[in-house]
Amino acid sequence: MYRYTRLLRLRMFLAVAGSLLFSAGLAVAAEPALTASSPDHVLQVQVQVRDGNLQYQLSRFGVPVLDWSRLGLQFSDASSLTDGLAIADSSTRDVDDRWQQPWGERQWVRNRYRELRVNFTSADAPAMAVVFRVYDEGFGFRYEVPADAQHAKRTISNELTEFAFVADHKTWWNGAYLPNRYEYLYRESPLSAIWKAVTPLTMKTAQGLYLSVHEAALVDYPEMTLENVGGNRLKADLIPWSDGSKVKTEGAFVTPWRTLTVAERATGLIDSDLILNLNEPNTLGDVSWLEPGKYVGVWWEMHIRQSTWASGDKHGANTANVKRFIDFAAKYGFKGVLVEGWNVGWDGDWIANSDLFNFTTPYPDYDFDALARYAKNKGVRIIGHHETSGGIANYESQLEDAMAYMQAHDVRAIKTGYVKQNGLIERIGDAGKPVHEWQHGQFMVRHYQKVAEVAAKHHIAINTHEPIKDTGLRRTWPNWMTREGARGQEYNAWSEGNGPGHIANLAFTRMLSGPMDFTPGIFDLGSKQAMDERNLSSTLAKQLALYVVLYSPLQMAADLPENYEAKPKAFQFIRDVPADWAQSRAIDGEIGDFVVIARQDRNSRDWYLGAVGDENGRLLSVPLGFLESGVRYQAQIYADGVDASWDKNPEAIEISTREVSSNDVLRLRLAPGGGSAIRFVPLHKAVAPR
Ligand code: NOJ
Repeated sequence: MYRYTRLLRLRMFLAVAGSLLFSAGLAVAAEPALTASSPDHVLQVQVQVRDGNLQYQLSRFGVPVLDWSRLGLQFSDASSLTDGLAIADSSTRDVDDRWQQPWGERQWVRNRYRELRVNFTSADAPAMAVVFRVYDEGFGFRYEVPADAQHAKRTISNELTEFAFVADHKTWWNGAYLPNRYEYLYRESPLSAIWKAVTPLTMKTAQGLYLSVHEAALVDYPEMTLENVGGNRLKADLIPWSDGSKVKTEGAFVTPWRTLTVAERATGLIDSDLILNLNEPNTLGDVSWLEPGKYVGVWWEMHIRQSTWASGDKHGANTANVKRFIDFAAKYGFKGVLVEGWNVGWDGDWIANSDLFNFTTPYPDYDFDALARYAKNKGVRIIGHHETSGGIANYESQLEDAMAYMQAHDVRAIKTGYVKQNGLIERIGDAGKPVHEWQHGQFMVRHYQKVAEVAAKHHIAINTHEPIKDTGLRRTWPNWMTREGARGQEYNAWSEGNGPGHIANLAFTRMLSGPMDFTPGIFDLGSKQAMDERNLSSTLAKQLALYVVLYSPLQMAADLPENYEAKPKAFQFIRDVPADWAQSRAIDGEIGDFVVIARQDRNSRDWYLGAVGDENGRLLSVPLGFLESGVRYQAQIYADGVDASWDKNPEAIEISTREVSSNDVLRLRLAPGGGSAIRFVPLHKAVAPR
């Protein structure tokens, strides 16, 4: 560690003199930029006060990736940290350590970076620090603002952070402030076509570099979206409160990390741990009570309108039906049974009548006590469901009791839901009148966080639907295990569908933020009803591949039990595939076209591989170098049948075995809308798929 210390007074003199000269129209020689290079000197960040403004720049092997970009925070009720700043001092430190994930896509994570801390001053006290952490594969920075004795509370009205890209890159993105939150198909356009976009936002440069802008550790702050301010510049646009302010702060605070991942191959974006590394370590201590695993449940049948959430003749969450799912789970080795529509509140327009939800009162035909006992005897747990419809006051008033009630029924995971028609959440404002908050503003960020923390006290994991986006907080609160936050399988049940290219987009966009509860595994793809009424845009082998491609520690087998029992050979893959991994590697892929991912089981030496394509058929050569060298494996291959295609023959599948080793290159043929799933078992314990 080394430290530069400059004479504060000289600095202040230069700053004041500089701004006087500047306002007199004279050129000011800027102080030399402070720089920090990543451990292997791949990326270099520079920081400088230029024209009185705080700015940074990023280059890769000396070539600019980001042009000079502004930094700063504006307050509406205190002095802003934007201009008139001077660098007081700075320091660097090098970190190279590794930490263990209690569950995850890999057990060990390496955290290797150089940190540059720059303290700025605007008067005679340090006004704030900007801390940069520079990795070989990306960087993050955040503002650290000490308390202000004059203003206990401060309101941020504008965050000046910019990402000034050097060209009009090709971009994969989703708009911000849209009624269905993050649930849209990705757009592909030049950067200049963006108006306001959510992150992660993915780009490819003309030179073939892959970039992803996102944020890490979003705590007590609104989501950062990106506004196009012209000239290939994207500026932080924080989702506001209903009163127009952006962030309500009290005392000292830190912002989330603003991040950019930079990779030479598209797969480098997937393999990066930047977001997790920028989060704080686990605060929950021993989390051995968390249970990553696969689950089934009373869910798809409502989405395909076979049963209802509401009470009545078609009520899905009745005791007999749930017992059927528990039996099925126990027979085939699933740990959980999700039950939706179990509690009072679903009758009538449940999206509009959010205040009717009662989280401790089951419908009379759902005998929760008996079912909890029945499940326990069979070694299975009920997965709870809390649909709030955005009724935050109603939910928070019951939160403690609701969690205790679930814990008393042996529940270890709850899926929460925030379906709202317009992305706006009602709360009672300071004037005692209802006001509407955006679903991704600071008010809701606090709410989602509170739910995860209360759940943790009851040893319950959370799977948030209609969530705030993932920013890696699972490192700090490992019980916030998974979430939705994109168009999942449900859209294939009742909308025009996600289309055959959706997964190959998701893998390089939404999935860069963290695990997703996509709810894969629909097997009824080819029946007349499925073809007429749904838009699954997938082959059967692709449904299997999703278990490897779309990481989630809670992974659903979403179809009805009878549809799995009708196809026992293909179902074997879902029975085998784990939801917790020792290591993961993105092998190959191109954004929106195809992706190949390999993962090793955390509890055995087995490897799994998933490959999915888009609407075009594709022949892939997959080197098996990830396998342990010198070991022979049985590859159990679930491939698209020769005449398979998502639109005409989705269920054609070819299941075969062959011997392979790490020296082999597998040829994988993906049908249009297809995929491939493989289990690799070291040969001494291999068994052929049943
Ligand atoms: C939307 C969720 O994404 C879905 O999984 C759930 O079934 C419904 N809301 C009802 O809560």
